[in-house]
Amino acid sequence: MKIEIPREVERFGPIVFHGVQKVYELDSGLRNAKNDKDDNPIMKRIAYDTQHEIQKQMAIVVPIRNEKIKLVEGVLSGIPHHCLIIIVSNSPRFPMDRYKLEKDAIEHMEHFMDRDILIVHQKDPKLGEACAAAGYSHILDKNGVVKDGKAEGMILSKILAYICGKKYIGFIDSDNYFPGAVMEYVHEYGAGFTMSNSDYTMVRISWHSKPKVVESNLFFAKRGRASEHTNRILNRLISSFTGYGTETIKTGNAGEHAMTMDLAMKLDYSSGYSIEPYHYINVLEKFGGIIANPSEDVMNQQVEFFQIESRNPHLHEVKGDQHVKDMSKAAMECIYNSPICPEALKENIMEDLITRKILPKGEKLGNNLNYYPALENFDLRKFKDVLKNQEYAGLFKDKLPEFKETKVSKPLRDTKMAKERVLPEKGKLEMK
Ligand code: GDD
Repeated sequence: MKIEIPREVERFGPIVFHGVQKVYELDSGLRNAKNDKDDNPIMKRIAYDTQHEIQKQMAIVVPIRNEKIKLVEGVLSGIPHHCLIIIVSNSPRFPMDRYKLEKDAIEHMEHFMDRDILIVHQKDPKLGEACAAAGYSHILDKNGVVKDGKAEGMILSKILAYICGKKYIGFIDSDNYFPGAVMEYVHEYGAGFTMSNSDYTMVRISWHSKPKVVESNLFFAKRGRASEHTNRILNRLISSFTGYGTETIKTGNAGEHAMTMDLAMKLDYSSGYSIEPYHYINVLEKFGGIIANPSEDVMNQQVEFFQIESRNPHLHEVKGDQHVKDMSKAAMECIYNSPICPEALKENIMEDLITRKILPKGEKLGNNLNYYPALENFDLRKFKDVLKNQEYAGLFKDKLPEFKETKVSKPLRDTKMAKERVLPEKGKLEMK
């Protein structure tokens, strides 16, 4: 892959937000290919062999709820061979067992692909038991199984990727019509990790376009309907602390994203579709120096966000206006309810929600989200032990990777500071 270096960089304490980067070649050949001009200072070449090395250490998670099996098969075919595929399904099991159909179809594909696929059902009681054994009951419902929600499935997959010894984890929605786009996203994840200097890195895909049929013609829309608003509000949040306007954030809702396991273990998560915008919020809350002191290692290494613009159009299942509104509301809720959200921005959020008829005038924006603490504070060996007799346990590693710091830090939402919503006074917004 050949990719331009970021043109813009926004710095926020130890957090680096790289502006969107364009891809110029999807495949730029082998590392030692002849006639390469590797000295071009504005282009990065990520050789095919480099991608391969990263893919061997990467799990690609495909969350599923009730998708067409043909679509899922296409997605799986686009995932490079050396990545470990983890499927977390929350498809209904009654009256028809959709999960069984998915599992049969995927296992059939697995034989032809000749690779291992870890497939679980989100509501498997054994997984609930494993979470409880690790002390991570936060994502469980009153019946002791993992709650519904995309975020909840993703958190589960993070634990699974960790106990499989993976260094990187990436997410691809299961309702993507273009297997070629899926493959491209995984290469872009690899490009971001190669360009990064930090163990704490996230790569987010900014789709080139989303095709739609408008008046019998194909129209390639640039951004999704929810993203536009989330991006604007996130950029305003950053500006309100730095004092400079910015448009750097273009991937507020990016469902297609990847991160290092070191970062995945350190983040708190929020529920449902708010998980992606909350990545930005939580990194700012935890490491931005506004209300919490970043750990020494994060200060030294920085947290790097890469945003890469894909070349393939993103065509996925359309789930209706109400779905988009719900997703947008969840994004706004996680920003609005953050202890770092200034009053003026809260007003902007309310105006935006009322204008778009997502919230009736006069109604307050509550907080219907759940927040889940960082996984680094839990004993995931106990999670692994509970699952030792499962059919997929052969994929688990005997020795689990160590974390850089083992210090138990309380989830931000439980701290006194977060509750009191301590914000720097206006005009005194320097980093602590
Ligand atoms: N395991 C699991 N559990 N998967 C789920 C669940 C769940 O409860 N709910 C949804 N999924 C799966 C879907 O099957 C799909 O593969 C993926 O999660 C995304 O869900 P969609 O409902 O299709 O979301 P979307 O396409 O409208 O939105 C996507 O793009 C947004 C950015 O525009 C999502 O990825 C959003 O999170 C993202 O913000």
